[in-house]
Amino acid sequence: MIGTAHEGLRVSITGLGCRVPDRVVSNDELSQYVDTSDEWIVARTGIRERRIAAREEALSDLALPACHAALAQAGIDGKDIDLLIVATVTPDMAFPSTGAILADILGAADAAAYDLSAGCTGFMYALAQAYGMLAGGLSKRALVVGGDILSRILDWTDRSTLVLFGDGAGAVVLEVVPEQGFLGFELGADGGGGQNLWLPGSGSRVFDDPERYVKMNGREVFKFATRVLVQSAEQLLAVCNHSVADVDLYIPHQANVRIIDHATRKLGIPSERVVVNVDRYGNTSSGSIPLALADAAADGRLRPGQLVLMTGMGAGLTWGSALMRWTKEMAA
Ligand SMILES: CC(C)(COP(=O)(O)OP(=O)(O)OC[C@H]1O[C@@H](n2cnc3c(N)ncnc32)[C@H](O)[C@@H]1OP(=O)(O)O)[C@@H](O)C(=O)NCCC(=O)NCCS
Repeated sequence: MIGTAHEGLRVSITGLGCRVPDRVVSNDELSQYVDTSDEWIVARTGIRERRIAAREEALSDLALPACHAALAQAGIDGKDIDLLIVATVTPDMAFPSTGAILADILGAADAAAYDLSAGCTGFMYALAQAYGMLAGGLSKRALVVGGDILSRILDWTDRSTLVLFGDGAGAVVLEVVPEQGFLGFELGADGGGGQNLWLPGSGSRVFDDPERYVKMNGREVFKFATRVLVQSAEQLLAVCNHSVADVDLYIPHQANVRIIDHATRKLGIPSERVVVNVDRYGNTSSGSIPLALADAAADGRLRPGQLVLMTGMGAGLTWGSALMRWTKEMAA
């Protein structure tokens, strides 16, 4: 799916918040659980540490403070929200949705609230969906959450997946605004590649192996990621009549520094325009892009007028890009 945002109401991001768990887990600590090393992880992924949720922390516990921060920045209350989408593959539970749980806590009594599953691309899918509902006049103010506690579904004896992921959540408020924020989206899925990154046994399909852990073919996912990050960005920029040279800030999914470097080089985006925080958080799945947005805002790198390109990719296999003109002054 690809399209520009020139027909409906003008929509932008007016608030941003994020939260990661307190516990920092270093590469050295992981080397106590599996046969790995700080040198290997840094060289192959660029990851130095990640945050891991406490046993009593569920996704809604991480997402709630992120929502509060985003609402405060937008200057609105939970009750003003009429749409709440949570992009995640690790909701508190299958049902009720984490969206419904959060809407209740936030007092968003009139909100449509639900979860959306598109792997690490979930936040991009949810942004596009919320954009469409606001641009079409169905929703007035939306809260879009992206977050995961992937540490719950990792095999803590499998070094090929354990070292890559971390926990975290981010939230954004979307509102109808006078100045156009979102310019276009490109989203896609290739279910044929789904078994390269999957969680067999997590739903109604019965498997002989009762384990419920992430299984991944790292090399295939690497090839897929480097290809779609470039393709999706190029296609979206072209349909929006922009070139790579126009991009002020590039926010790729934070999976692996080598994947980011590869995409950045191929696209020809100078490294000073690229947001990278995978070294501190690992791959936080649906939390990745909102966490990177929040980091860029905290560093003073996200400013009104900038052309911001975000691209996610992940399980499904899925991918998705959004192009926007940033409209909000972010308090440092
Ligand atoms: C997983 C990934 C880092 C592996 O890097 P790689 O350079 O492809 O490494 P390989 O898979 O070729 O493995 C090389 C060797 O390292 C070993 N290895 C794998 N994980 C290791 C670890 N954590 N520590 C030490 N050695 C490890 C492998 O067993 C292999 O050993 P062998 O040669 O004796 O068989 C890389 O493929 C990747 O990032 N893929 C994308 C994953 C991803 O981003 N998934 C989420 C998408 S949303």
